[in-house]
Amino acid sequence: MQQPRTRIVSFGHYVPKKVVTNHDLEKYMETSDQWIQQRSGIKERRWVSEGETTLQMATEAAKEALEKANLTADDIDAIVFGALVTDYVFPGTGCLLQKSLGCKKPIPALDLRNQCSGFLYAMSVSDAWIRAGFYKRVLIVASEIQSTALDLSTEGRDVSVLFGDGAAACLVEATNNPEEGVIDTLIASQGEFAEKLFVHRPSPNDHPRLKENLDLTDGFHAHMDGKFVFKNAIIRMCEAVTTVTKKNGFELDDIDFVVAHQANMRINQAVLDHLKIPFEKTHHTIDRYGNTTNATIPLTMNEAVDQGMIKRGDLVALVAFGSGFTWGSTLLRF
Ligand code: ACO
Repeated sequence: MQQPRTRIVSFGHYVPKKVVTNHDLEKYMETSDQWIQQRSGIKERRWVSEGETTLQMATEAAKEALEKANLTADDIDAIVFGALVTDYVFPGTGCLLQKSLGCKKPIPALDLRNQCSGFLYAMSVSDAWIRAGFYKRVLIVASEIQSTALDLSTEGRDVSVLFGDGAAACLVEATNNPEEGVIDTLIASQGEFAEKLFVHRPSPNDHPRLKENLDLTDGFHAHMDGKFVFKNAIIRMCEAVTTVTKKNGFELDDIDFVVAHQANMRINQAVLDHLKIPFEKTHHTIDRYGNTTNATIPLTMNEAVDQGMIKRGDLVALVAFGSGFTWGSTLLRF
Protein backbone atom coordinates (compact mmCIF):
# COMPACT_ATOMS: atom_id res chain seq x y z
CA MET A 1 0.00 0.00 0.00
CA GLN A 2 1.20 3.49 -0.86
CA GLN A 3 2.51 5.49 2.11
CA PRO A 4 0.47 8.67 2.75
CA ARG A 5 2.09 12.09 2.49
CA THR A 6 1.48 15.19 4.57
CA ARG A 7 -0.26 18.13 2.92
CA ILE A 8 -0.76 21.57 4.41
CA VAL A 9 -4.47 22.33 4.68
CA SER A 10 -4.56 25.80 6.23
CA PHE A 11 -2.90 28.38 8.48
CA GLY A 12 -4.02 30.85 11.12
CA HIS A 13 -2.30 33.47 13.22
CA TYR A 14 -2.86 35.93 16.02
CA VAL A 15 -0.79 38.92 17.09
CA PRO A 16 -1.43 41.04 20.20
CA LYS A 17 -3.16 44.36 19.71
CA LYS A 18 -0.47 46.51 21.32
CA VAL A 19 2.00 47.89 18.75
CA VAL A 20 5.46 48.80 20.09
CA THR A 21 7.50 50.88 17.67
CA ASN A 22 11.25 51.36 17.70
CA HIS A 23 10.60 54.91 18.91
CA ASP A 24 8.69 53.46 21.88
CA LEU A 25 11.81 51.45 22.80
CA GLU A 26 13.91 54.63 22.79
CA LYS A 27 12.05 55.54 26.01
CA TYR A 28 13.44 52.50 27.83
CA MET A 29 17.02 52.17 26.54
CA GLU A 30 19.74 53.85 24.50
CA THR A 31 18.75 52.81 21.02
CA SER A 32 17.32 54.37 17.88
CA ASP A 33 14.79 53.59 15.19
CA GLN A 34 17.60 53.95 12.65
CA TRP A 35 19.90 51.43 14.41
CA ILE A 36 17.16 48.82 14.80
CA GLN A 37 15.92 49.15 11.23
CA GLN A 38 19.40 49.09 9.72
CA ARG A 39 20.67 46.15 11.79
CA SER A 40 17.53 44.00 11.83
CA GLY A 41 14.84 45.31 9.46
CA ILE A 42 12.37 45.65 12.36
CA LYS A 43 10.10 48.73 12.52
CA GLU A 44 7.66 47.57 15.17
CA ARG A 45 6.53 44.50 17.07
CA ARG A 46 3.50 43.43 19.17
CA TRP A 47 3.53 42.95 22.93
CA VAL A 48 0.80 41.23 24.92
CA SER A 49 -1.39 43.16 27.34
CA GLU A 50 -3.18 41.81 30.41
CA GLY A 51 -5.53 39.00 29.27
CA GLU A 52 -3.50 38.03 26.21
CA THR A 53 -1.76 34.76 27.06
CA THR A 54 0.20 32.05 25.26
CA LEU A 55 -2.90 29.85 25.36
CA GLN A 56 -5.30 32.57 24.26
CA MET A 57 -3.12 33.49 21.27
CA ALA A 58 -2.65 29.82 20.40
CA THR A 59 -6.41 29.27 20.54
CA GLU A 60 -7.15 32.22 18.23
CA ALA A 61 -4.55 31.07 15.71
CA ALA A 62 -5.79 27.47 15.82
CA LYS A 63 -9.42 28.54 15.38
CA GLU A 64 -8.53 30.49 12.23
CA ALA A 65 -6.75 27.46 10.77
CA LEU A 66 -9.71 25.19 11.59
CA GLU A 67 -12.26 27.67 10.22
CA LYS A 68 -10.35 28.04 6.96
CA ALA A 69 -10.46 24.24 6.63
CA ASN A 70 -14.16 24.06 7.59
CA LEU A 71 -13.26 21.68 10.40
CA THR A 72 -13.80 21.55 14.14
CA ALA A 73 -11.44 20.58 16.95
CA ASP A 74 -12.89 17.07 16.99
CA ASP A 75 -11.67 16.55 13.43
CA ILE A 76 -8.02 16.61 14.55
CA ASP A 77 -6.14 13.52 15.68
CA ALA A 78 -3.17 15.13 17.43
CA ILE A 79 -1.79 18.47 18.61
CA VAL A 80 1.86 19.43 18.41
CA PHE A 81 2.52 22.61 20.34
CA GLY A 82 5.74 24.61 20.51
CA ALA A 83 6.91 27.57 22.64
CA LEU A 84 10.03 28.77 24.41
CA VAL A 85 8.04 29.34 27.59
CA THR A 86 4.60 27.88 28.25
CA ASP A 87 1.62 29.07 30.33
CA TYR A 88 2.38 26.76 33.24
CA VAL A 89 5.72 25.32 34.33
CA PHE A 90 3.78 22.12 33.77
CA PRO A 91 1.68 20.73 32.14
CA GLY A 92 2.46 21.89 28.62
CA THR A 93 0.18 24.24 26.70
CA GLY A 94 -0.73 21.52 24.18
CA CYS A 95 -3.05 19.94 26.77
CA LEU A 96 -4.55 23.31 27.65
CA LEU A 97 -5.14 23.98 23.97
CA GLN A 98 -7.02 20.72 23.55
CA LYS A 99 -9.44 21.95 26.21
CA SER A 100 -9.70 25.54 25.02
CA LEU A 101 -10.53 24.39 21.49
CA GLY A 102 -13.33 22.23 22.90
CA CYS A 103 -11.79 19.00 21.64
CA LYS A 104 -13.55 16.12 23.39
CA LYS A 105 -11.56 13.23 21.93
CA PRO A 106 -8.63 11.97 24.05
CA ILE A 107 -6.07 12.86 21.39
CA PRO A 108 -2.34 13.21 22.11
CA ALA A 109 -1.01 16.71 22.79
CA LEU A 110 2.75 16.97 22.46
CA ASP A 111 4.80 19.98 23.62
CA LEU A 112 8.06 20.60 21.75
CA ARG A 113 10.81 22.97 22.83
CA ASN A 114 13.06 23.75 19.91
CA GLN A 115 13.09 27.54 19.99
CA CYS A 116 13.13 29.32 16.63
CA SER A 117 13.35 26.01 14.76
CA GLY A 118 10.35 24.64 16.67
CA PHE A 119 7.93 24.78 13.78
CA LEU A 120 10.19 22.66 11.56
CA TYR A 121 10.74 20.15 14.36
CA ALA A 122 6.94 20.01 14.75
CA MET A 123 6.57 19.54 11.00
CA SER A 124 9.08 16.68 11.04
CA VAL A 125 7.25 14.86 13.87
CA SER A 126 3.80 15.44 12.33
CA ASP A 127 4.99 14.26 8.91
CA ALA A 128 6.50 11.10 10.44
CA TRP A 129 3.26 10.35 12.32
CA ILE A 130 1.18 10.83 9.18
CA ARG A 131 3.51 8.80 6.92
CA ALA A 132 3.53 5.98 9.50
CA GLY A 133 -0.26 6.00 9.50
CA PHE A 134 -0.55 6.89 13.21
CA TYR A 135 -2.70 9.99 12.65
CA LYS A 136 -4.53 11.55 9.72
CA ARG A 137 -4.79 15.17 10.81
CA VAL A 138 -2.37 17.08 13.05
CA LEU A 139 -2.70 20.64 14.34
CA ILE A 140 0.67 22.34 14.78
CA VAL A 141 0.58 25.47 16.94
CA ALA A 142 3.31 27.93 17.91
CA SER A 143 2.66 30.63 20.48
CA GLU A 144 5.29 32.89 21.97
CA ILE A 145 5.43 35.60 24.62
CA GLN A 146 8.91 37.07 25.11
CA SER A 147 7.95 40.66 25.95
CA THR A 148 7.17 40.03 29.62
CA ALA A 149 10.74 38.90 30.37
CA LEU A 150 12.86 41.26 28.27
CA ASP A 151 15.66 43.29 29.81
CA LEU A 152 14.56 46.74 28.74
CA SER A 153 17.68 48.45 30.07
CA THR A 154 20.47 49.51 27.69
CA GLU A 155 22.38 46.40 28.76
CA GLY A 156 19.72 44.12 27.26
CA ARG A 157 19.09 46.12 24.10
CA ASP A 158 20.84 43.72 21.69
CA VAL A 159 18.18 41.07 22.47
CA SER A 160 15.15 43.10 23.55
CA VAL A 161 14.67 45.07 20.35
CA LEU A 162 14.44 41.88 18.27
CA PHE A 163 11.56 39.97 19.86
CA GLY A 164 7.80 40.24 19.47
CA ASP A 165 4.85 38.21 20.71
CA GLY A 166 2.50 36.21 18.50
CA ALA A 167 1.06 32.85 17.57
CA ALA A 168 0.44 30.82 14.43
CA ALA A 169 -1.14 27.49 13.57
CA CYS A 170 -0.83 25.06 10.69
CA LEU A 171 -3.21 22.19 10.00
CA VAL A 172 -1.72 19.22 8.14
CA GLU A 173 -3.39 16.05 6.93
CA ALA A 174 -2.71 12.79 5.14
CA THR A 175 -3.02 12.68 1.36
CA ASN A 176 -2.56 9.92 -1.17
CA ASN A 177 -1.72 12.42 -3.89
CA PRO A 178 2.02 11.99 -4.64
CA GLU A 179 2.08 15.41 -6.33
CA GLU A 180 1.54 17.42 -3.14
CA GLY A 181 2.71 17.71 0.44
CA VAL A 182 5.89 17.52 2.45
CA ILE A 183 8.75 16.05 0.45
CA ASP A 184 11.34 16.03 3.22
CA THR A 185 12.39 17.80 6.42
CA LEU A 186 15.93 18.10 7.70
CA ILE A 187 16.36 18.96 11.38
CA ALA A 188 19.60 19.28 13.30
CA SER A 189 21.16 20.63 16.47
CA GLN A 190 24.57 21.54 17.89
CA GLY A 191 24.35 21.59 21.69
CA GLU A 192 27.94 22.77 22.12
CA PHE A 193 26.61 26.26 21.37
CA ALA A 194 23.59 26.16 23.71
CA GLU A 195 24.99 29.00 25.82
CA LYS A 196 25.46 31.29 22.82
CA LEU A 197 21.75 32.11 23.12
CA PHE A 198 19.95 31.05 26.28
CA VAL A 199 18.08 31.98 29.43
CA HIS A 200 19.58 30.31 32.48
CA ARG A 201 16.94 30.84 35.16
CA PRO A 202 14.67 29.87 36.84
CA SER A 203 16.57 26.59 37.00
CA PRO A 204 15.74 23.37 38.89
CA ASN A 205 19.48 23.10 39.61
CA ASP A 206 19.36 26.03 42.03
CA HIS A 207 18.91 24.87 45.64
CA PRO A 208 16.24 25.97 46.33
CA ARG A 209 14.90 26.94 42.94
CA LEU A 210 12.81 29.78 44.33
CA LYS A 211 14.00 31.98 47.13
CA GLU A 212 13.16 35.42 48.47
CA ASN A 213 14.89 38.46 46.94
CA LEU A 214 15.89 36.73 43.72
CA ASP A 215 18.60 38.66 41.88
CA LEU A 216 16.88 39.20 38.54
CA THR A 217 20.15 40.35 36.94
CA ASP A 218 21.59 36.86 37.52
CA GLY A 219 20.57 34.79 34.51
CA PHE A 220 16.88 35.58 34.22
CA HIS A 221 17.22 37.46 30.94
CA ALA A 222 18.31 36.10 27.57
CA HIS A 223 22.02 36.11 26.89
CA MET A 224 23.06 36.18 23.24
CA ASP A 225 26.34 36.30 21.36
CA GLY A 226 24.67 38.10 18.47
CA LYS A 227 27.52 38.08 15.99
CA PHE A 228 28.20 34.36 16.51
CA VAL A 229 24.49 33.52 16.16
CA PHE A 230 24.27 35.69 13.05
CA LYS A 231 27.21 33.98 11.33
CA ASN A 232 26.07 30.45 12.20
CA ALA A 233 22.48 31.20 11.15
CA ILE A 234 23.58 32.12 7.62
CA ILE A 235 25.86 29.08 7.26
CA ARG A 236 23.33 26.55 8.59
CA MET A 237 20.29 27.98 6.78
CA CYS A 238 22.14 27.91 3.43
CA GLU A 239 23.40 24.40 4.12
CA ALA A 240 19.96 23.10 5.17
CA VAL A 241 18.07 24.41 2.13
CA THR A 242 20.77 23.18 -0.25
CA THR A 243 20.91 19.73 1.35
CA VAL A 244 17.16 19.09 1.48
CA THR A 245 16.71 20.36 -2.09
CA LYS A 246 19.53 18.39 -3.72
CA LYS A 247 18.87 15.23 -1.69
CA ASN A 248 15.40 15.11 -3.18
CA GLY A 249 16.51 15.59 -6.78
CA PHE A 250 15.75 19.32 -7.15
CA GLU A 251 17.90 22.33 -7.95
CA LEU A 252 17.74 25.61 -6.00
CA ASP A 253 16.32 27.20 -9.18
CA ASP A 254 13.30 24.89 -8.92
CA ILE A 255 12.18 26.52 -5.66
CA ASP A 256 9.18 28.81 -6.20
CA PHE A 257 9.09 30.37 -2.73
CA VAL A 258 11.18 30.49 0.44
CA VAL A 259 9.72 31.14 3.89
CA ALA A 260 12.58 31.84 6.28
CA HIS A 261 12.55 32.33 10.04
CA GLN A 262 12.23 36.02 10.82
CA ALA A 263 15.15 36.81 13.14
CA ASN A 264 16.98 39.42 11.16
CA MET A 265 16.34 40.76 7.66
CA ARG A 266 20.11 40.86 7.02
CA ILE A 267 20.40 37.13 7.81
CA ASN A 268 17.66 36.32 5.31
CA GLN A 269 19.07 38.65 2.66
CA ALA A 270 22.48 36.99 3.03
CA VAL A 271 20.94 33.49 2.78
CA LEU A 272 18.99 34.38 -0.38
CA ASP A 273 22.05 36.06 -1.95
CA HIS A 274 24.20 33.06 -1.18
CA LEU A 275 21.64 30.63 -2.63
CA LYS A 276 21.07 32.96 -5.61
CA ILE A 277 17.33 32.96 -4.93
CA PRO A 278 15.69 36.25 -5.99
CA PHE A 279 14.19 38.39 -3.21
CA GLU A 280 10.77 38.33 -4.98
CA LYS A 281 10.51 34.62 -4.11
CA THR A 282 10.05 35.35 -0.42
CA HIS A 283 7.89 37.26 2.06
CA HIS A 284 8.81 39.00 5.31
CA THR A 285 6.85 39.92 8.41
CA ILE A 286 9.82 40.91 10.59
CA ASP A 287 9.31 44.62 9.86
CA ARG A 288 5.89 44.53 11.58
CA TYR A 289 6.17 41.70 14.11
CA GLY A 290 9.88 41.26 14.91
CA ASN A 291 11.08 37.80 15.84
CA THR A 292 8.07 35.83 17.12
CA THR A 293 10.37 32.83 17.61
CA ASN A 294 8.76 29.51 16.62
CA ALA A 295 5.68 31.30 15.22
CA THR A 296 7.48 33.25 12.47
CA ILE A 297 7.31 30.65 9.69
CA PRO A 298 3.58 29.71 9.91
CA LEU A 299 2.68 33.37 10.51
CA THR A 300 4.63 34.55 7.45
CA MET A 301 3.33 31.66 5.37
CA ASN A 302 -0.24 32.43 6.37
CA GLU A 303 0.16 35.96 5.01
CA ALA A 304 1.92 34.77 1.86
CA VAL A 305 -0.83 32.23 1.12
CA ASP A 306 -3.66 34.70 1.87
CA GLN A 307 -2.05 37.29 -0.41
CA GLY A 308 -1.68 34.78 -3.26
CA MET A 309 2.14 34.79 -3.17
CA ILE A 310 2.21 31.03 -2.57
CA LYS A 311 -0.09 28.98 -4.78
CA ARG A 312 -1.11 25.32 -4.76
CA GLY A 313 1.52 23.33 -6.62
CA ASP A 314 4.42 25.66 -5.73
CA LEU A 315 7.68 24.12 -4.52
CA VAL A 316 8.27 25.82 -1.17
CA ALA A 317 11.33 25.72 1.09
CA LEU A 318 10.97 26.56 4.79
CA VAL A 319 14.13 27.28 6.75
CA ALA A 320 14.95 28.22 10.34
CA PHE A 321 17.80 28.61 12.78
CA GLY A 322 17.70 29.28 16.50
CA SER A 323 18.89 28.74 20.02
CA GLY A 324 20.27 25.30 20.80
CA PHE A 325 21.72 25.70 18.23
CA THR A 326 18.91 24.12 16.27
CA TRP A 327 18.08 24.47 12.62
CA GLY A 328 16.12 22.85 9.83
CA SER A 329 14.54 23.03 6.41
CA THR A 330 11.34 21.56 4.97
CA LEU A 331 10.80 21.13 1.24
CA LEU A 332 7.16 20.79 0.25
CA ARG A 333 4.81 20.95 -2.69
CA PHE A 334 2.06 23.27 -1.43
N1 ACO B 1 20.51 49.84 19.79
C1 ACO B 1 21.63 50.56 19.61
N2 ACO B 1 22.86 50.03 19.67
C2 ACO B 1 22.95 48.71 19.92
C3 ACO B 1 21.82 47.90 20.12
C4 ACO B 1 20.57 48.53 20.06
N3 ACO B 1 19.43 47.84 20.23
N4 ACO B 1 22.24 46.66 20.35
C5 ACO B 1 23.58 46.66 20.29
N5 ACO B 1 24.01 47.91 20.03
C6 ACO B 1 25.39 48.39 19.89
C7 ACO B 1 26.41 47.46 20.49
O1 ACO B 1 26.55 47.70 21.87
C8 ACO B 1 27.65 47.82 19.70
O2 ACO B 1 28.21 48.98 20.26
P1 ACO B 1 29.82 49.20 20.32
O3 ACO B 1 30.28 49.15 18.89
O4 ACO B 1 29.97 50.52 20.96
O5 ACO B 1 30.34 48.04 21.12
C9 ACO B 1 27.11 48.18 18.32
O6 ACO B 1 25.71 48.44 18.50
C10 ACO B 1 27.27 47.07 17.31
O7 ACO B 1 26.80 45.86 17.91
P2 ACO B 1 26.93 44.51 17.17
O8 ACO B 1 26.57 43.41 18.13
O9 ACO B 1 28.24 44.45 16.49
O10 ACO B 1 25.78 44.66 16.08
P3 ACO B 1 25.38 43.65 14.97
O11 ACO B 1 25.54 44.31 13.65
O12 ACO B 1 26.04 42.30 15.15
O13 ACO B 1 23.83 43.46 15.22
C11 ACO B 1 22.25 41.93 16.22
C12 ACO B 1 23.37 42.96 16.44
C13 ACO B 1 21.09 42.65 15.54
C14 ACO B 1 21.83 41.40 17.56
C15 ACO B 1 22.78 40.80 15.30
O14 ACO B 1 24.00 40.33 15.80
C16 ACO B 1 21.81 39.65 15.18
O15 ACO B 1 20.72 39.78 14.64
N6 ACO B 1 22.19 38.44 15.62
C17 ACO B 1 21.38 37.24 15.44
C18 ACO B 1 20.09 37.24 16.24
C19 ACO B 1 19.35 35.93 15.98
O16 ACO B 1 19.26 35.49 14.86
N7 ACO B 1 18.89 35.25 17.00
C20 ACO B 1 18.48 33.87 16.77
C21 ACO B 1 17.08 33.63 16.79
S1 ACO B 1 16.38 33.81 18.36
C22 ACO B 1 15.97 32.25 19.02
O17 ACO B 1 16.24 31.20 18.52
C23 ACO B 1 15.34 32.29 20.36
